Amino acid sequence: MRISNRLVLSAMAGINNAEFCMSFPAGLVILGGFNADLMAMEAARKVVARGRKEFLFDSPIEGIESEVAKISGRKVFAVNVRSSSLNGFLDVADIVRRYGGIVEINAHCRQPELIEAKCGMWLMKHPKDLFTIVKETSAIAPTGVKLRNSENCVEVAKLAFEAGAVYVHVDAMIPGGLCDFEVVKRISQLGITIGNNSVNSLEMAEKMAEVAHLVSAARAVLKDRFFFHKLLISPKLAEPFEFSIDLRKTDQISKA
Ligand SMILES: Cc1cc2nc3c(=O)[nH]c(=O)nc-3n(C[C@H](O)[C@H](O)[C@H](O)COP(=O)(O)O)c2cc1C
Repeated sequence: MRISNRLVLSAMAGINNAEFCMSFPAGLVILGGFNADLMAMEAARKVVARGRKEFLFDSPIEGIESEVAKISGRKVFAVNVRSSSLNGFLDVADIVRRYGGIVEINAHCRQPELIEAKCGMWLMKHPKDLFTIVKETSAIAPTGVKLRNSENCVEVAKLAFEAGAVYVHVDAMIPGGLCDFEVVKRISQLGITIGNNSVNSLEMAEKMAEVAHLVSAARAVLKDRFFFHKLLISPKLAEPFEFSIDLRKTDQISKA
């Protein structure tokens, strides 16, 4: 599978629906984050109650499928998912298999309500659970993992690749606002990476492209709808990227 350039639109809960994602020229766009089971959805409702954006659906799986159906065949996409249960991840992997995308397991979210519901960063503290999830979803659909820079981040990335992840998406934030390029570089030696955090200029994007295979941005796109257009003047960022995965829609469970 070839993506048209090395840019990735990073997940933003309550913002990255199909319509929003389709409006950017990034080679890969990430829908969500979505909450795949009722416990995760309950946590998301609490997050909304204190003023943050989330996608709220009465039926989480139907809501996720309706967004995926709109983008399928039009953009190369991944779906960022939080879930309290293995089944939630498996349900989304099944949707992604049918519509031809990548499921991105969210081990990144730090909202306390979601961590309490065993979602997001909870998985970084429970790498064995993350390993099981990635192994199981990888048997259904191509699986990526979103991690946050932390003490055990390289170790967790290694486990994710061993479990079958096709990429690790690293939010390399250093508390205090800087970005840890070194940790991205180390993970890039283990497998395909998407480097993330503070990519807010052409210079930062090119710097990230030195250490990661793909480069993602979230907040910069909210500030400037033409941010990705501006990055695409760089030959380094505009070059296509070959993934050794097959994203064709399939009714067969992949044995790859
Ligand atoms: C409003 C908002 C919502 C976000 N929601 C999610 C999410 O649901 N899942 C996720 O993995 N990351 C989420 N993120 C994190 C971004 O994907 C990204 O990792 C982070 O903002 C750092 O990248 P940036 O410096 O390019 O913004 C969110 C970020 C913002 C600003």
